[in-house]
Amino acid sequence: MKIKINGKIVETATGKTILETALENNIPIPNLCYHPDLKPSNHCKMCVVEIKGLKKLQFACSTKAKKKWKG
Ligand code: FES
Repeated sequence: MKIKINGKIVETATGKTILETALENNIPIPNLCYHPDLKPSNHCKMCVVEIKGLKKLQFACSTKAKKKWKG
């Protein structure tokens, strides 16, 4: 599926997080506690991002990429 991050349209696979998708496409999102071999902990809160359609900030390291959000 294709999603837009910071105005750039990128390809991602079902199950990948926003952070994984961004990093694979050289789009920087600050992060500290993320590690690809560990379960997301949401401890550092450095990776929070704004997602169009959602009112609250989300953790890029634990939020799965989707085409559209409602909330
Ligand atoms: S990288 Fe730490 S909460 Fe996402």
